[in-house]
Amino acid sequence: MTLIKKIHKWASIIVGLQVLIWLSSGFYFNVMDHKKAKGTQYRVTNTYKMILESSKLIEPKQALESNRLLEKSEFSKSSNSVVSISLSHLFGQPVYLLTHEKGLYRHFKNSYSMADAYTGKQITIDAELAEKLASATYSGPGKVKSVTLLEKSVDDFPKEKNSAWQINYADELNTSVYIEAGSGRLIGHSNDDKRFADILFMLHFMDYASEGNFNSIQIILFAFITLWLTLTGFIWTIKLGFEGQYQLTLFSNKRIVQLLDKDHQPIGSVSLNDKTNLLDGLTKNQIYIPSVCGGGGTCGSCRILLSPQAKITDAEYEKLSKFQLEKGYRLSCQQFLADIESITILN
Ligand code: FES
Repeated sequence: MTLIKKIHKWASIIVGLQVLIWLSSGFYFNVMDHKKAKGTQYRVTNTYKMILESSKLIEPKQALESNRLLEKSEFSKSSNSVVSISLSHLFGQPVYLLTHEKGLYRHFKNSYSMADAYTGKQITIDAELAEKLASATYSGPGKVKSVTLLEKSVDDFPKEKNSAWQINYADELNTSVYIEAGSGRLIGHSNDDKRFADILFMLHFMDYASEGNFNSIQIILFAFITLWLTLTGFIWTIKLGFEGQYQLTLFSNKRIVQLLDKDHQPIGSVSLNDKTNLLDGLTKNQIYIPSVCGGGGTCGSCRILLSPQAKITDAEYEKLSKFQLEKGYRLSCQQFLADIESITILN
């Protein structure tokens, strides 16, 4: 039973903490400004439209040909195989977007290269072009502070699996704009408001590894801890039931019991109910015995002195020494009226 109680105690701390996090972060999600939480205060739509002169367009196969001649560029991890080719544009100028590797979603691992749709010349999204693409979607007051190529991961967009340009602006929100390095796609805007909301989302969904994934190992582990909390609580409840902690007071009897102080001098008497434990019974009579666990039998602070013959419960074996038990010390939350004639109040 000691192990059951220990598991229950630690599981309740973990579950309780996470419930507290759920409540506070859930409350924040209810009251937060959703636009701020998305980090899009300074985001505008790029209004460039493709200006297409069909007569100047080269055949897609020419673009493929020039791609074959392309050495692997610094920014493209593409192989020479192409799974699809589509017509797109950069600032209105048509380009062929060659897809070398296609993930199920845009943020999955993809690999692209680009060619001018009129000349077939390879286009690389370099720092300068990335900055121009980012600034076309930014309406804030900040100037560009830095432009960095992130090869592996984008902290502000943990689901993003492709290398990206990070363009940082010197505004009051520390806005960062992310451009996919292979295709020039706008991944998104982020700023301090979004970062704060992301922390709360991380805590709320227990996504401590910032994987952008709800089905994390932490949440599975938490489900098991909660199961343990439930099972141990159930076992403990049954045990308490057998110890007589849950009794109907409907047909109870009352009896007068004498109270003694710690020097064993009479200080009065109280009427106690035989279906209520002594801690609760004394409290009802305005006699307050110290209690930290609220009657759970785990804190050991509700000590009283009875006759040494009074029955001893498991909780008392755990919380009181052999010497104390022999002297008649007991936990008031574990004891019932039974044949008790007097109670010595220790505090
Ligand atoms: S109130 Fe905590 S052990 Fe009795």
